Amino acid sequence: MKNRLIIAIQKNGRLSDQSSNLLKKSGIKFRYKSRSLLAKSSNLPVDVLFVRDDDIPSLIANGDADIGIVGKNILFEQTKHKRNIKNILDLGFSKCRLSFAVPNNKAFKSLNNKRIATSYPNIVKAFLRKNKINSTVIKIHGSVELTPYIGISDCICDLVSTGATLKENNLIEFKTVLESEAILISNKNLKSNKSKILDLIFTRMKGVINARESKYVMLNTDVDTVKDICNLLPGADSPTIIPLEKSNKVAIHALCQEPVFWETMEQLKNKGASSILVMPVEKVLS
Ligand code: PRP
Ligand code: ZN
Repeated sequence: MKNRLIIAIQKNGRLSDQSSNLLKKSGIKFRYKSRSLLAKSSNLPVDVLFVRDDDIPSLIANGDADIGIVGKNILFEQTKHKRNIKNILDLGFSKCRLSFAVPNNKAFKSLNNKRIATSYPNIVKAFLRKNKINSTVIKIHGSVELTPYIGISDCICDLVSTGATLKENNLIEFKTVLESEAILISNKNLKSNKSKILDLIFTRMKGVINARESKYVMLNTDVDTVKDICNLLPGADSPTIIPLEKSNKVAIHALCQEPVFWETMEQLKNKGASSILVMPVEKVLS
């Protein structure tokens, strides 16, 4: 496996589907067989390793994997691996936050002298130190949200994504410690043959991320409205203007790098545009 780049991704959980999809959209072909740990790519010198997300930083720091996709929350918690790991790209999915929350009938003003249950003791302790708060941190691996109700803690610090878990447990979020999302990380000392494979994948991943919000817009309009219409196209650099068979009509084609909402389309129509098509963009290589 010396000349193959090993990519670690989460086997089951909040990151797994989108991590696999990102690799596939970046042109890495592999087949995942349930229960298998490793999938060899059939078209690139790449192996995909399926593991628990908590194990990804140590695998990369030790050189057992070369790069990986993990939540910022996991990387920031595992401070001991920081020296050997580089954060190379924010991936924009699996967005969530690490927040303090308290039972809604027990809300308090100060975090001082509290028992805080969390699966992220390092992040929480660093936050308390920085803010000169004196409290006890209790490390809990799962079901953190139950601890205030069994008398183990006064409040919790846990991941919040939709907020449904907090709501189900009558907990109120009152302070965010960290905003998290999926990131691409790499071992700091990759050999040059592996760096080359990473460069290729990195550029492709950026292409996939850039394309995510992009849309290709095509519409028809009168020649004298071209300026107004172009001003309305979100994040379009330099639209293409194509003459149409009818003498005073043109087609405008543009790559819009920002979301195109219904409201934008309605404004375009009001300015005189017709046959407005908004199409997905799969990849962008600039
Ligand atoms: C986190 C957290 C909550 C849930 C919050 O767990 O511990 O249980 O997600 O999400 P919500 O706001 O959308 O309800 P996760 O699924 O990451 O599992 P893990 O902590 O056991 O890895
Ligand atoms: Zn986990």
